[in-house]
Amino acid sequence: MLLKIENLTKRFGGVLAVNDVTLSIAEDEIVGLIGPNGAGKTTVMNLISGYYKVDSGRIEFKGIDIQNARPSTVCRLGISRTFQIPRPFPDLTALANVGVGVLCGKERPDKSYGDSLLDASHFLEFVGLFSKRNVLAKDLSLFELRLLELARALATTPKLIMLDEVMAGLNPGEASRAIKLVRKVVEEYRVTVFWIEHVMKVVMEATERVIVLHYGKNIASGPPKEIVNNPEIIEIYLGEKIA
Ligand SMILES: Nc1ncnc2c1ncn2[C@@H]1O[C@H](COP(=O)(O)OP(=O)(O)O)[C@@H](O)[C@H]1O
Ligand SMILES: [Mg+2]
Repeated sequence: MLLKIENLTKRFGGVLAVNDVTLSIAEDEIVGLIGPNGAGKTTVMNLISGYYKVDSGRIEFKGIDIQNARPSTVCRLGISRTFQIPRPFPDLTALANVGVGVLCGKERPDKSYGDSLLDASHFLEFVGLFSKRNVLAKDLSLFELRLLELARALATTPKLIMLDEVMAGLNPGEASRAIKLVRKVVEEYRVTVFWIEHVMKVVMEATERVIVLHYGKNIASGPPKEIVNNPEIIEIYLGEKIA
């Protein structure tokens, strides 16, 4: 297994955001993570990436214990992520934003700043943002910011990429471009994908297995078709969207 999580738990005051979650992801899988708002999806990713401290449980990546490792360590080991609400460095250009990804990644040690920008332009081109390379991040549209997040995540040369609702707020045309792009990422970079997604059509189309979180608990895991036809899951989460 590439990623193994056992009995992961995280509280915020009285809120049990992640409650005894056990799951694993194999190399080259594309796994969706779904569940109602507040189910704990983003928190799971924040725990994996070292952004939050784990209360209890275990996280293993490539057989290495990464529980409470620093985000920079987790990144260098080969995990990168995008944020639900894009978090660029607003006053840096698109190119420099992606350059930060290059410098944080696992191929970092012998890289000069100039080389990092060369690499960055390659990743910008890959996501279709090369023409915006000199635009400050704060002047990019939401769609462009999502592309930028993806380019920056890729620039760290991850083995596992975690996407947090990359489709949110996109129009249908942009969303379909984004799905194609994630496919292209998988084909060209052979990354494993852990993908939080609200849009069921995307989950059905683009993932091979789906994990369902509900009140912080992992209540189901299976092929997307099985999950959307599971009456219990339809009731707690999908009802209105499927109807
Ligand atoms: N930094 C935080 N401080 C306090 N509560 C938080 C924090 N992050 C998340 N939560 C709470 O944890 C629960 C799960 O949140 P989250 O993981 O963001 O859910 P999801 O991504 O599934 O919508 C929610 O009740 C949320 O309010
Ligand atoms: Mg979330």
